[in-house]
Amino acid sequence: MLTNDQLSKWDRENFFHPSTHLAQFARGDLANRIVTGGSGVHIEDRDGNRLLDAFAGLYCVNVGYGRTEISDAIAAQAKELAYYHSYVGHGTEASITLSKMIIDRAPDNMSKVYYGLSGSDANETNIKLVWYYNNVLGRPEKKKIISRWRGYHGSGLMTGSLTGLELFHKKFDLPLSQVVHTDAPYYYRRDDLSLSEEEFSKQCADSLEALILKEGPDTVAAFIGEPVLGTGGLVPPPAGYWDAIQPVLKKYDILLIADEVVTGFGRLGSMFGSDHYGIEADIITSAKGLTSAYAPLSASIVSEKVWKVLEQGTDEFGAIGHGWTYSAHPVCAAAGVANLKLIDSMGLVDNAGDVGPYFKQQMEKAIGEHANVGDVRGEGLMLAVELIADKEKRTFLDPSLMTGPKIAAALLKRGVIARAMPQGDILGFAPPLCLTKEEADTIVGAMNEAITEVFSGA
Ligand SMILES: Cc1ncc(COP(=O)(O)O)c(C=O)c1O
Repeated sequence: MLTNDQLSKWDRENFFHPSTHLAQFARGDLANRIVTGGSGVHIEDRDGNRLLDAFAGLYCVNVGYGRTEISDAIAAQAKELAYYHSYVGHGTEASITLSKMIIDRAPDNMSKVYYGLSGSDANETNIKLVWYYNNVLGRPEKKKIISRWRGYHGSGLMTGSLTGLELFHKKFDLPLSQVVHTDAPYYYRRDDLSLSEEEFSKQCADSLEALILKEGPDTVAAFIGEPVLGTGGLVPPPAGYWDAIQPVLKKYDILLIADEVVTGFGRLGSMFGSDHYGIEADIITSAKGLTSAYAPLSASIVSEKVWKVLEQGTDEFGAIGHGWTYSAHPVCAAAGVANLKLIDSMGLVDNAGDVGPYFKQQMEKAIGEHANVGDVRGEGLMLAVELIADKEKRTFLDPSLMTGPKIAAALLKRGVIARAMPQGDILGFAPPLCLTKEEADTIVGAMNEAITEVFSGA
């Protein structure tokens, strides 16, 4: 067996890690963790650590680690038929069954599922579909996409543009010109403190309408948003937000893409975030929780309204020129079928709706009064703790102090993995949906100690 030192050396010499400070890693200034196993909400590494993964990998291992129902289904599919493509009407039992299961669970207006392998590629597909849709309808100038600052939609060329975080744009020549950004629905960081949540939501909707009018409604094709902002800071929408936004989109005939890569399949305590907030999307993006990351799979779930136009397009222009070798890969689809069955049989959607509010309440109780805790917010099993330098003056911490990462490191020392979010000193928690109240208490206890340690300089 290879030693940790050997693997570590190979890791630094050969492996290009995503979202990593490459130079620090190559020099050895950044630790590597070699993960070997997992069970329930815990992972294990080669150094013998057992850690409570309070971010479920990248908020994707929704059923928890080590579920043999899914690994057995993957093995059985790989033995029976590891691959066949899905072009020109080909399918497998797994891909057809999964499509039926998704449509049965999705909001009523959803009609068909197109498969990719990642949230990023699903959103790339969605934008192509929106462009195709408007070309078929004879509106070739209606192509711009509105996304929100702090939204996260992937890191491809188009999806990196949709993402409203500077890190994903700078030095990559993004965003592309077809993308414009509107306000983040980030009530805690509002400029005018006198606004109620509803008033702030109205302000966001007014600002969106002003942007549409400035760009020209005939040039705006779609709006994309996560039901709850994820990577941008785990920010649930202020009261009335989606009710205020949707009439503006309808008024100007702008399609709505609900990016449910994180919220799809139970995280908010509802099967979809769209149901949770009354969002009537035209297309829903899904990935992560679709297979709980046991195999890479994403889904662009297309409404009947959009589907009808796609059908019309192929009658006019021939077969749709979009597809990938691995679309609806049978092994991934089999993982999806087993995963959705497990979400049902374990009652995970209800568990997220039950343990999530408890987790938030306990976190507020434990640390809400701390001088440097500005906001504890969340919905279902998405929870964020935002840190602040001075509550009264509302001054935020100097990013160069790296307070968020320091707290994440202090949590790790205590056996808990949380994510220091990329913009702002925000600790993100999005554990597997099987989290128990006792495990929630463990995370809260560790967070209490970590905050005390970092702010007292201990
Ligand atoms: C809301 C949302 N959309 C899209 C993506 C991109 O997914 P992927 O990393 O699988 O490309 C993510 C990833 O975190 C996400 O959170």
